[in-house]
Order: sequence, then structure tokens, then C-alpha cells
Amino acid sequence: MSIRNLDDLLAEGVSGRRVLVRADLNVPLDKQTGEITDDGRIRAVLPTLSALVQAGAKVVVCSHLGRPKGAPDPQFSLRPVAGRLGELLGASVAFAEDTVGDSARSTVAELADGQVALLENLRFNKGETSKDDAERGAFADQLAALGDAYVDDAFGAVHRKHASVHDVPARLPHFAGRLVLREVEVLSRLTGSPERPYVVVLGGSKVSDKLAVIEALLPTVDRLLIGGGMCFTFLKAQGHEVGTSLLEKDMVETCRNLMERAPGKIMLPVDVVAADAFAPDAAHDTVPADGIPSHRLGLDIGPETVAGFAAALSQAKTIFWNGPMGVFEMAAFANGTRGVAEAITKADAFSVVGGGDSAAAVRALGLDESSFGHISTGGGASLEYLEGKTLPGIAALEN
Ligand code: 3PG
Ligand code: MG
Repeated sequence: MSIRNLDDLLAEGVSGRRVLVRADLNVPLDKQTGEITDDGRIRAVLPTLSALVQAGAKVVVCSHLGRPKGAPDPQFSLRPVAGRLGELLGASVAFAEDTVGDSARSTVAELADGQVALLENLRFNKGETSKDDAERGAFADQLAALGDAYVDDAFGAVHRKHASVHDVPARLPHFAGRLVLREVEVLSRLTGSPERPYVVVLGGSKVSDKLAVIEALLPTVDRLLIGGGMCFTFLKAQGHEVGTSLLEKDMVETCRNLMERAPGKIMLPVDVVAADAFAPDAAHDTVPADGIPSHRLGLDIGPETVAGFAAALSQAKTIFWNGPMGVFEMAAFANGTRGVAEAITKADAFSVVGGGDSAAAVRALGLDESSFGHISTGGGASLEYLEGKTLPGIAALEN
């Protein structure tokens, strides 16, 4: 791989140069208060930013937040992120009210050496996510004009063919940041020859989101443990009734084929926590996976399942986990995710947690982040990496 990284840029010398850093500061915000509920992604980019600050660069940070539709939308402003970033860096961060307009240009022009500016949300501009090469290119031209060199440290967005990820590196000398480098190193350990047994735990709500990664992993893994909302489509494929649980009817046949293709590899829940409603205070009971009452929906895996998954994990030498096992945001349905996460920390294995939701679960449940081998900042990105797909952001750095 011929990717130049931050050390190569630092060796060139960056003092007084404008370095445009694409970060993934797409952090979860509280719907009511707008406060940042998990700042993991901000902290993850600090090593790159601090190194540039110390080397005297004029650091211009850009990111997306949420999915605004190509125009300014105050609920997705990065302003609160600028505040938090400043606290973590211990220096004030200048905030530009737009991404490539007058405010951005003057904010960047006023930067002193070793200062940091954050541009407003990239996705307030249609060109960022456009499928039209020319429209994306025109936006990339404006963005590239704000830097003399480009660093990609937005691992969570490397699977997006967006202007800031894919087109800007074609216009500026480009380098991988510390986070991107570490993520790729770790994930390549999983796609190379992982130490066995290699056990993968998948959760989250939809089979359709995970189908490609299941297909890609099935021949490679020794065990695939499935929980979360997606397990009900598998349970249905096993012939069980799932009540009002999440079900993707058009995926049942696919799930059946997957299980037939790798007999014994896929482990499904044997019990689930079934509730009257999707609510924190809903009446609920643990029931066998083949005994979900018709009026109830499964919101977590049950204790017997946790014990079975934990036993499989305790044997593992390599573990990848993506997706919560239940609705961990509600205390009554958090035990499955907590139990599996704890089992992963206890295993004598190299463990990788992939995905915004699973990483947020680790922190929300108060688990020690350092007891995992690596917590990826990328959800879709880490899955697509494991699928073996070409990631536009990584490919752009290679050129
Ligand atoms: C994420 O949260 O997965 C990344 O920030 C990418 O965001 P996106 O899925 O909206 O492109
Ligand atoms: Mg996402």
C-alpha cells in the first residue's frame, strides 16, 4: 500500500501551511437539548490534530454531521462540536459559519500558526454528496482552495464517495491521519489470517444492512453469533413465530439459505426478552425463542443466549463485534448487549468493536474501553472494509 501518512507530512514540515483535515465529527446529539451525548469520535481525531498544532500548521477541520439535505439546517450545525473540540484540545477553535463561503475564507485567512478552525457542516452543500462528478468536483475545488495539504482522518466516512473524501485528495497532496492508519492496520489483521477461533458477533436492526458482510464473513469465521433486531428474521427462517418483533419478510429465504450454507456456524438466540411495546417501561418477560407470544416483540436476547454466546466467545482468539444485541438505550433491554460486551472483554482474544452504535454502547454501559483491542469509529466503513470492498476514501489516498 503506497499511502503517505501524517508522519510523511510532518517530515516535510507544516509550519505556516494550511492543512485541511477531513474528520468524522458525526457525533450523536441529544434530541431535546442538542448536547453531544458521546464525544468518542472527537477524541479519536485528537492525536492527528494535536500533532499538526504542535508542528505549527494552520489546521482547517471539516466534517459532516447527520444527513442534512444539501442546504444549511441549524439542527445539524457543527458549532457545538467546535466548542467541545476546543475543550479537548485546550485551545479555542475558530468556527466558520459556512463551509466554503466568505466566513470560511476569512476564518482560514486569519488563522495563526498552530491554530485550529472548524468549517460548518460539509453536507450543507449539495456538491458534497452529489452523484454528479462535475458538481462534486466544483465543490471539491472550493474546499481544496482552503488548504495546501489534505489529511484524511475520517475513517467513519471512507466508504462514501463524497467530495471531501474522494475528490479533494485528487486536488491536494494527501496523507492518511493517525486514526485512519490505525483503523486500517487493525482491520487488515481481521481480513488477513486472524488467529482462530475467529468469532463474529452481529446485531443491529436490519439483516439487509448486514447481508453483504455476512456473505463475506461466513466462509472465514468459525462462529457467527446473531442478536439484535436482525435475529428475528433468522428465527423466522428457523420456523419460529416472532410475534410483532422486527421482521424483514423478504429476507427470510435469504437467511434460510445462509444457515444451510454453513451448518452449525451461525448461532441464534435460544431465548429473548419479549415486551408489550417498544417503550422503556413496557411489560416484558424472558421467553424461549420458539415461544414469543403473538402480541409481543423481542427487544433483547435472553440470559441463556448470553451464556451461550459468552461460552463461544471465551474460546475465541479473534473477535469482531458490530451492532447491539437489544435496545440497550432502555435499561430493561440492555442486559444482552452488556453481557456480550463483558464476555468480549474477558476473552483472551484480540477484539475489535466496529460501529458507532456498538462503540456508543460500550461507553454508555460504562465499560472500560481499554479492555477491547480496538474500538473502530466506523460502522458502515468497517463493515465494508471487512467485505473487501474498495473504499473510495482509502483508494483516493493510494493514488
Ligand atoms: C457514520 O456515522 O456512520 C459516519 O459518520 C457516516 O455517516 P453517513 O452514514 O451518514 O454517511
Ligand atoms: Mg452510519
